[in-house]
Amino acid sequence: MRILAIESSCDETAASVLSTTKNGKPSILSNVISSQIAIHAQYGGVIPEVAAREHVLNIIPVVAEALKLAKTKPQQLDAIAVTKGPGLITSLISGMETARTLAFAWNKPLLGLNHIEGHIYAAFLELKKDLKFPAIVLTVSGGHTLIAIMKEHGDLKIIGETRDDAAGEAYDKGAKMLGLGYPGGPAIAKLAANYSARFFEKPKETLGFPRPMMNSGDFDFSFSGLKTSLLYKLKADSNWQNRIEQYCYEYQEAILDLLVEKSLKAAKKYQATSIIASGGVSANYRLREKLIERAKIVTPNSQVYFPEMAYTTDNAAMMAAAAFFRLNQNPKLKSWQKEKVELNLSL
Ligand SMILES: Nc1ncnc2c1ncn2[C@@H]1O[C@H](COP(=O)(O)OP(=O)(O)OP(=O)(O)O)[C@@H](O)[C@H]1O
Ligand SMILES: [Mg+2]
Repeated sequence: MRILAIESSCDETAASVLSTTKNGKPSILSNVISSQIAIHAQYGGVIPEVAAREHVLNIIPVVAEALKLAKTKPQQLDAIAVTKGPGLITSLISGMETARTLAFAWNKPLLGLNHIEGHIYAAFLELKKDLKFPAIVLTVSGGHTLIAIMKEHGDLKIIGETRDDAAGEAYDKGAKMLGLGYPGGPAIAKLAANYSARFFEKPKETLGFPRPMMNSGDFDFSFSGLKTSLLYKLKADSNWQNRIEQYCYEYQEAILDLLVEKSLKAAKKYQATSIIASGGVSANYRLREKLIERAKIVTPNSQVYFPEMAYTTDNAAMMAAAAFFRLNQNPKLKSWQKEKVELNLSL
């Protein structure tokens, strides 16, 4: 099976080709991303109108490059997958219309997919051994923060969400207050790592950042109070610039404690065999370290999984992976694929 996937939900224009190996595993043949980060960095965040215009310019060259790198001719494709949401509508349209047009022109089935499903399935690429269910999924990105229970492929139930900002947003807005660039996650992570590298053991926290909703008894999150707390602490400290690394470290610890502890509580409650962290924030080394360390203690029977770094922030390989598992695991879609029914334009 060969799938072309297209992703354009925010500020990355991406296309990827996935094929099936001899033993039925998904294999990424190409993963092309045209990032607009440098363009949006000057504004401190994504400007939807600018993002849409960049997608229009880049989408065809990106798809052409993905097919070329994968040495794949359109005739060899079995399906085209595309992100249908959630995302910026003006950005999504570029990918959707391109996928629809190509599916029509090449007479291929078209599969519209949820972007978050893609982030989750990123963790299923390049697995050495099959991941065992039930799994607790933590998805942490620029626009989402959620915990879901996954009983099997396609059976996903959200059990907790953020009530205000996403964790990525807490990073990005925190970074803005600290005068660091966009995207804020990598910038805060870097200064936080510089700070902790100066200590032999885990540094003691002295700034007193709160852990909102840590003991709320559910799996929801709230990051806006933490963000406000950073704002007030900076206002009250005329010397904060000289302690910026400490601010980054302690602010990050507060965000990550919430993500890690709530995920582990969920894993314990649902007796999860696997714990998956995905989305842009899952690129964070400290999150990875903390989740692995704490899981050993709190849920020693669960195995922790993260996507390969290249598949953490927005990319099309993750959408191809979601399409692959849908087509393989869902009997209805499987017969849809076998029969090669006519082009289904209603996503
Ligand atoms: N190393 C890192 N540490 C912490 N956060 C990070 C890191 N790298 C990226 N991020 C954060 O990840 C976010 C981007 O992730 P992603 O591309 O998955 O989000 P998005 O696509 O904008 O949002 P969504 O997927 O919810 O629509 C940004 O908020 C960024 O700051
Ligand atoms: Mg995303």
